[in-house]
Amino acid sequence: MEVIIAEDAQAVARVAADLVSDLVSRKPDAVLGVATGSSPIALYRELSRRVEAGELSLARCTAFMLDEYVGLAANHPASYRRFIEDELVVLTDLASERVHGPDGAAPDLAAECLRYERSIGAAGGVDLQILGIGTDGHIGFNEPASSLASRTRIKTLTRQTRHDNSRFFGGDLDLVPHHCLTQGIGTIMAARNIVLVATGAAKAEAIHRIVEGPVTAMWPGSELQHHPHVTIAVDEAAADGLELRDYFVQTDRANSWGRSVWLDE
Ligand code: GLP
Repeated sequence: MEVIIAEDAQAVARVAADLVSDLVSRKPDAVLGVATGSSPIALYRELSRRVEAGELSLARCTAFMLDEYVGLAANHPASYRRFIEDELVVLTDLASERVHGPDGAAPDLAAECLRYERSIGAAGGVDLQILGIGTDGHIGFNEPASSLASRTRIKTLTRQTRHDNSRFFGGDLDLVPHHCLTQGIGTIMAARNIVLVATGAAKAEAIHRIVEGPVTAMWPGSELQHHPHVTIAVDEAAADGLELRDYFVQTDRANSWGRSVWLDE
């Protein structure tokens, strides 16, 4: 794992945005994996800034979302589809119809999971997956004890995750769905490149566990240790639990030859 410790959330966003820019400059019709939650918001704003400045275009890109709540229509204010629309699509030139997500309101959820999994494959797979991390180490909505080989499926959310995400439901825990559809850990691991962004002290233990702990389903993000092209970009607070903190790269002494994504061209 390449661990980059940046001074603040904006610097974390720039590290991740540089990977997106590198990818899209070499492959304008790249397939992006997009995450929800507050962690990637600064990244999406940075991508927006670059698009407005004419430095980047996502117009030919396709995007696949990680997950969606079960039972929320796509236009529900707290749906992840709506989040991506508001926080990424309207701020950039990424086309709404090129953003795909699992349909949490589908009548047959198991069939929907299979359809979604196949649609990612049909698009040629994800070139760069953007991830956040839950305080319990989940990626996507793969909660602790998820199969490390899992594919898109229905999952039950833990009370902790529902509590963490209740702020998107006006703080009312009762309004947070109990179930979701999520790409599996195996699905996420199939992406050619992964960048995980995390900021703030609340993420420090999860970052320590997934980077330095054993690979275990109890900290699902730890499976990323088995991925050949993963960058973990964190701010000082989220890096606070790292034993190897002094060894990991600080952005001010990051390598000068640049970071680039891997493409099987
Ligand atoms: C949700 C999402 C995850 C995200 C996590 C962390 O559970 N399913 O993809 O990483 O929240 O969210 P935040 O970035 O808001 O802390």
